[in-house]
Amino acid sequence: MRPTLSTDRLRLEPLAPEHADLLSRMDADPEVMRHVGGRALSREESLSALPRRTDPTADERGLGWWAGFQDDAFVGWWCLVLDEDPSTAELGYRLPRCAWGRGLATEGSRAMLDHGFETVGLGSIWAETRDANLGSQRVLTKNALRRVSRSDSGVVRYVVTRTEWADFLVLELRKDAGWENSSGAIAEAAHLAALGRELALPRLLAYRDALDQVDLTDDAGDVSDEVWRGRTAVRHGLQLLGEHPAS
Ligand SMILES: CC(C)(COP(=O)(O)OP(=O)(O)OC[C@H]1O[C@@H](n2cnc3c(N)ncnc32)[C@H](O)[C@@H]1OP(=O)(O)O)[C@@H](O)C(=O)NCCC(=O)NCCS
Repeated sequence: MRPTLSTDRLRLEPLAPEHADLLSRMDADPEVMRHVGGRALSREESLSALPRRTDPTADERGLGWWAGFQDDAFVGWWCLVLDEDPSTAELGYRLPRCAWGRGLATEGSRAMLDHGFETVGLGSIWAETRDANLGSQRVLTKNALRRVSRSDSGVVRYVVTRTEWADFLVLELRKDAGWENSSGAIAEAAHLAALGRELALPRLLAYRDALDQVDLTDDAGDVSDEVWRGRTAVRHGLQLLGEHPAS
């Protein structure tokens, strides 16, 4: 079953027939549809996609579409589409114009990736967009997806594997530790641990080793704070893996 997901700003509810009006209003805007079909959709055209977007087979695996809300305002849909290969799924998103330019597509996509890798247990997640859709490509690259191909018709394909996702989480953890974001660093360590011992343990230990080697001799305090935040997050991740933090 698709769970309701939350991020700092978004509530992502399993998409359902009751969202029909919100979807058809969004699809009636030609600017929203510019790179996805090239023209506004009639209500009938928009709603013809609803059965696929509420497909119970996908739902059983925790996949499908979610409707996103910020303070109860509809801000678009995000999806992880069932693939014939059960180890992967396709990431997608569509936001009404009033929601663009605030980082919401990126934030909702991050929730899809966390859910897909941690809860569904996917081995990779892929996405396709058009060459001209630079905003969408930026959403993908900010979330660690890398470009793997381009078709003659200008469709570009992106992918992130589970291992690459684990590496991305370490980078985010380190960034948060450096930017005085203790709770963010702890949250990234928890996301890493949720990927499982095999991926998480070597990465947490390698980061802890790197922190142990930082030279704090002439430090005015900034670096030692960063090291402390990093160590706190690593300790949290190790505890979640059932490791004794000092080991
Ligand atoms: C594409 C779309 C999802 C982006 O949503 P958004 O909430 O504005 O995205 P975000 O704010 O999370 O991130 C967009 C990023 O792209 C960048 N961007 C946006 N338009 C751009 C452009 N024309 N050229 C280069 N970069 C662009 C933004 O600056 C931002 O990057 P930054 O954070 O580094 O500054 C949204 O415009 C949309 O839903 N469009 C219609 C449907 C669609 O195209 N869906 C994708 C189909 S594959």
